[in-house]
Amino acid sequence: MIHIGYSKGISVDIRLLHTIVAAQTRYGKSTTIRTMMQHIPDDYKALCLDVKDPRDFAGAGVEIPIYIENKTDPLMLKQLLEQESHLWLRREFPELIDLCKEGDTFEKVYERVNKRMTEKAHPVVKDRLKVLQLLLRKLVENMAKTTLSDTLELPAKNNVMNLSKAPSEIKQLAVYSIVKRALEKLENIVLVIDELPDFAPQQYSTPSKSIIGQAIRKGGAKGIWLWLSGQTMTGVDKQVLKQAMIWILGHQREINEAKRTLDQIPFKTGLDVKDIMKLPIGHFVVCTDEGGYITYVQPEGVDSETARKVSLGEVSVDEVVEMLKKGKGDDDLVYKEKCEKLEKQVQQLLTEKNELLERIGKLEKDLEQFKPEHEVLEKLWNAMLKAQASGKETINLEHKELVVNIHHEGEKEVKMSTSTKEGQMMYCIVKEMPTENEGWAQIDLIKKLLEHGWNIKQSTVSVTLSKWVPEGLLIKTEKGYRLPTKVKFNIKKED
Ligand SMILES: Nc1ncnc2c1ncn2[C@@H]1O[C@H](COP(=O)(O)OP(=O)(O)OP(=O)(O)O)[C@@H](O)[C@H]1O
Ligand SMILES: [Mg+2]
Repeated sequence: MIHIGYSKGISVDIRLLHTIVAAQTRYGKSTTIRTMMQHIPDDYKALCLDVKDPRDFAGAGVEIPIYIENKTDPLMLKQLLEQESHLWLRREFPELIDLCKEGDTFEKVYERVNKRMTEKAHPVVKDRLKVLQLLLRKLVENMAKTTLSDTLELPAKNNVMNLSKAPSEIKQLAVYSIVKRALEKLENIVLVIDELPDFAPQQYSTPSKSIIGQAIRKGGAKGIWLWLSGQTMTGVDKQVLKQAMIWILGHQREINEAKRTLDQIPFKTGLDVKDIMKLPIGHFVVCTDEGGYITYVQPEGVDSETARKVSLGEVSVDEVVEMLKKGKGDDDLVYKEKCEKLEKQVQQLLTEKNELLERIGKLEKDLEQFKPEHEVLEKLWNAMLKAQASGKETINLEHKELVVNIHHEGEKEVKMSTSTKEGQMMYCIVKEMPTENEGWAQIDLIKKLLEHGWNIKQSTVSVTLSKWVPEGLLIKTEKGYRLPTKVKFNIKKED
């Protein structure tokens, strides 16, 4: 039995089976697995794949080199390249089948694609080869950068493979290779795989997903058990989850996440979402088909009596954390917290930077809008300065939307005398003709002229009247003509 911790003062121990550990980040998943690793049966070994950066399993066992089986086949390679590139390589697949014989090394496949690129081929085929060449180059380069081993040795009871700094395709290949190797050659082994959603995603095929699926279905018979963990099981392949018979569930803050986590469990637990949302750090509900127990996990370095007291509420988790810090000094247990604190600070600074950039963008926009107004104000200011300097009281302002310049020349004098026909006509119009808007008829003017003894021919009167209209001295009306109201007419008597 695997000891985990205490539930209300009673020891909680589980059978060695495929197990899922799920909880929100920093609530104690890795601590729980590290505790479990201390209690695996004598005839078993554990291999922990430490994939997260910063590391979760440093010091949890003897470090072993990264093992990758440098053998591939077209389907596995297609899935690997697709996952890494997020491209769908359906069209490239026939080329990949030609390039990759079963059991080839990755370097061999890359060499072949390079050779094919130098040969004559249809442009469409060339394009597909180009895509494969690019993806394979990245893979082979990443393999060359990482120190890899082509053998898998487990020298100790607990073994840890540090994959925290490895590129993601190397992580995928390592998980694939190790689980495959375990199925082919090993027995009585516990494989610890963290970040499960990356290795057994629900949505797409990956090399590691199919092999994890095989191990979880067939591994038990050979004593191959998987301990799988992740923050959420939402995006994990259902076939994998269905086979896990022990679920260790920690805190979830989000109600839907808590609900989804419970819904995934393949047996009845009687748990409510609130049970999960209330769990403090280090507390998990250990679920088997026999029921669920709220358990305080006993971390490495904490004695049984203290752990039991925490489960009874007599000692707080904070006190345990303090105790662990003191015991360990300023090392392992706190470095992750420190790293997290720094990450938060970086995140905060990045947010502030983005906010500032957004504000600058907004101000620049405002400034752009203000520019035309600013130009007008500047012109006004300059004009005022100029006017002040020259002693003028008027200011000419230009605005690009509407410019109206009016130059008024003052009064224009038109002189006439009753010694001429024109003068006689104007005299009568000003003094004696009606001033209503409808005006007067030409014939009435002629009659008025006759009264004064001024006999002017009708044709002369007609020509003169029509000439005065464009000159602005008369306005045409329906009846005939009238005088403009804004023009001044003065009649002076000559002595
Ligand atoms: N059982 C426990 N008792 C006391 N403290 C604990 C316990 N479990 C976890 N902690 C505290 O919580 C911290 C985070 O724990 P852990 O690294 O196991 O979380 P995690 O769920 O694996 O987080 P991540 O998702 O980041 O991997 C530990 O460093 C420790 O301080
Ligand atoms: Mg962890």
